[in-house]
Amino acid sequence: MAIETDVASHYGRAGIADRILAALRTANGADAPITVDALSALDHFHGRGIVATQELAAVLKPEPGEHLLDIGSGIGGPARWFAEKCGVRVTGVDLTPEFCAAARALNIATGLDNRITIKNGSALALPVPDNEFDRAYSQNVIMNVADKPQFYREAFRALRPGGVLALSNLCAGTGEALIYPVPWADTAETSFLATPQEMEADLRAAGFEIVSFRNTTAEVEAATRRNRERLESGPLPALGTHLILGAQLRQMQINSSLNLEQGKVATVEALVRKAR
Ligand SMILES: C[S@@+](CC[C@H](N)C(=O)[O-])C[C@H]1O[C@@H](n2cnc3c(N)ncnc32)[C@H](O)[C@@H]1O
Repeated sequence: MAIETDVASHYGRAGIADRILAALRTANGADAPITVDALSALDHFHGRGIVATQELAAVLKPEPGEHLLDIGSGIGGPARWFAEKCGVRVTGVDLTPEFCAAARALNIATGLDNRITIKNGSALALPVPDNEFDRAYSQNVIMNVADKPQFYREAFRALRPGGVLALSNLCAGTGEALIYPVPWADTAETSFLATPQEMEADLRAAGFEIVSFRNTTAEVEAATRRNRERLESGPLPALGTHLILGAQLRQMQINSSLNLEQGKVATVEALVRKAR
């Protein structure tokens, strides 16, 4: 509980949606429509942004009409993207009240509030029924969670038999201490990285079958390195995820890239299934 309070206060900022909508009006004009595509430069709050969401979608393969669960839904960019591009309903659960408020406001602004439900709650006690979801996904969330077996048990409970979970996880690399702050934590107090081997063992222990399990560190590292070089040499773009966490995000992203480049962090993309 203390961890969750600290995680939510790391992320929580007042006025996120207002800041984002004002920046969009400045960039695109006062009358420009607020669309999923217009928001996509700043509402996918994980490394490589919209590109990473599209890659996860290619693994998850949602079908129109399905009900998806987004565990740690942030300000709702991935949920809006899945709802609009794949014709699904999405329930998002997130710990940070300010992120849930921003997600709901942006769902209304894009006209997707009838297809997306946002619940403020914990991945460790998901406020959803058993066997409800056709598919689930979680992008860059579990590095904030100490009790990873419980995270996977809850995802398993929420999926219908035959349902699948797609994960994009930050994992431990060499085990050396990270450079802080990073986008998910100011200190080691709220950062918990499991090795890819531990991740796979926790998933199997929760009851999942492994469909695919891919170490994506090399490709992610190359993209974040290019982003670091841009951040070190130029101004912040008008539209970016710094509108969520503030200008300090620049140094956090630089540190995150250095951790990957130095082998301290690894990334894994996995698809797992709850057997019928
Ligand atoms: C880096 S953000 C990623 C947000 C979103 N998945 C995305 O990719 O845009 C991490 C998110 O995980 C959420 N989170 C962290 N620990 C959580 C927990 N125990 N339960 C639910 N959400 C959690 C945070 O509030 C934050 O929104």
